[in-house]
Amino acid sequence: MAPGDNNNNGNGILRSEEWFGPKDLEGFLHRSGLKAQGFSEEAFSGKPVIGIANSWSELTHCNAHLRDLAEYVKRGVVAAGGFPLEFPTISLGEFFLQPTSMLLRNLMSMDVEEMLRGAPLDGVVLLAGCDKTTPAMLMGAASADIPAILVTGGPQLRGNWRGQDLGSCTDCRRYWAELRAGRITQDEYDSMEEAIYRSAGHCMVMGTASTMGGIAEAIGMSLPGGATIPGADSRRRSHSEAAGRQIVKLVEAGIRPSQIMTAAAIDNAIRLLLAVGGSTNAIIHLTAIAGRLGIDLPLSHFDELSRKTPMILNLKPSGEYLMEDLYYAGGIEAVLSRLSSLLNLDEMTVTGKTLGENIANARVDNDRVIRTLEKPLFAEGGIVSLTGSLAPDGAVIKHTAASPELLQHKGRAVVFEDFADLHERIDSDDLDITEDDVMVMKNAGPIGGPGMPEWGMLPLPRKLLRKGVRDMVRISDARMSGTAFGTVVLHVTPEAAIGGPLGLVQNGDMIELDTPNRKLELLVDAAELERRRKAWKAPAAKYDRGYGQMYSQHVLQADGGCDFDFLRGRTPVELRV
Ligand code: FES
Repeated sequence: MAPGDNNNNGNGILRSEEWFGPKDLEGFLHRSGLKAQGFSEEAFSGKPVIGIANSWSELTHCNAHLRDLAEYVKRGVVAAGGFPLEFPTISLGEFFLQPTSMLLRNLMSMDVEEMLRGAPLDGVVLLAGCDKTTPAMLMGAASADIPAILVTGGPQLRGNWRGQDLGSCTDCRRYWAELRAGRITQDEYDSMEEAIYRSAGHCMVMGTASTMGGIAEAIGMSLPGGATIPGADSRRRSHSEAAGRQIVKLVEAGIRPSQIMTAAAIDNAIRLLLAVGGSTNAIIHLTAIAGRLGIDLPLSHFDELSRKTPMILNLKPSGEYLMEDLYYAGGIEAVLSRLSSLLNLDEMTVTGKTLGENIANARVDNDRVIRTLEKPLFAEGGIVSLTGSLAPDGAVIKHTAASPELLQHKGRAVVFEDFADLHERIDSDDLDITEDDVMVMKNAGPIGGPGMPEWGMLPLPRKLLRKGVRDMVRISDARMSGTAFGTVVLHVTPEAAIGGPLGLVQNGDMIELDTPNRKLELLVDAAELERRRKAWKAPAAKYDRGYGQMYSQHVLQADGGCDFDFLRGRTPVELRV
């Protein structure tokens, strides 16, 4: 389909003209609503109206500078002959939301979609950054399907503590384990707080925010540079201005998200995810985005591509470097150029050009950060999927951030019924556990959590930490932060709280993880499992009203992207009247 074909051409008048054009009572009210804010008729009349959907919030520290960036987007919109109108969306900060920001991702996507649908907008620039804000924006824009460009706030500068680089929040977790093991003092740990978080932007390892920023570039929804320019770099502002100028052109061309985020573009995004050792959370978010576009994305497809996509980016938590280093090494464009033989280069992007054209002049300036396909960090992609009797509908493991010697492991299950049980007993000297056991936590999935919190990197028992143990096989239906690491099996589906096999595991059962063969088996005979299934009781419902109840009734499992069943698909807005 050529740009503009899906433009609902009508008589060619922009949809915003329906609000601001007519010389009647409605038009009077709409125009006066702008004039009340000091806009002259010349400022907006006949111009494409560009929304700036801003997830700025002081409750989302990663997005706290988006107010500033919005001014640069506006500058670009005006320079290109458009009329910008900024509006707030809800904002989801990883640090400040209980029980988990994931519970609200779908709510934010609804907020974005319905604002795009209801307001007099011809196009939109989406300002995001922290983990869930990027997928929520893309999901909403996909369903409303009006021209859109995503601009993130960019990553933070490298952390620096006593001369060593620190990555948020991979190194917070690493040193937390050292503190619990008694290897550093509380004062030393406290002194890292301002040393690691020292500038505007989101976490600067290849965590979920960085991964989703990279995916936005690979899928075609961000201008080149969008993922890696640091939040504190002046070029983040000029990038925002460029997005403001470009969205006006995108509106003129009538290029919609559905023409950009095609199945082939989603494959490009998956390739990128795998090649950069990105966050396991991105599997859930990409599945949800694809679902909005009517594209089926089974977990097996990720695995298929993982087997054929070398991991070439050397960033924490799987490697050594940080996002600032990636920017200086050439950014996501450079990674994509190294992957070009594996990509669908003819896919349209928000530049109005193809992905291949966007990366034609990309260059790699540091081969230690961005490896070649011939000399990758790992021969396969960073994430693989598993299936078996413990996870009939799948599970995932970020094997590149795991201990190689544990990737094939058989051990005795040590079971925690839920997160509260884990916290109550994990540091007890009486806990019956050795480093060869397999830690299992139940009831942390989409419904059980609720919201599938990032609890999957289960803390190791203190008594084993003191012995020097730094990794064990851990299994749950939770997610884990993209900044986390270890031999951690996540997203076990179906989850324990709806009666999945995970809910039937008992202390002492044998579990086998066989990552090379993609297997996760509960070694308990079928008759015994059936007996347990009959005795199993669902945990009490977490909510009896409100959003939480709606969430529990409609959320899909991890293999459905944890979207709401009624949100899948799109209802395109008419762009012209
Ligand atoms: Fe926002 Fe890490 S807390 S990206």
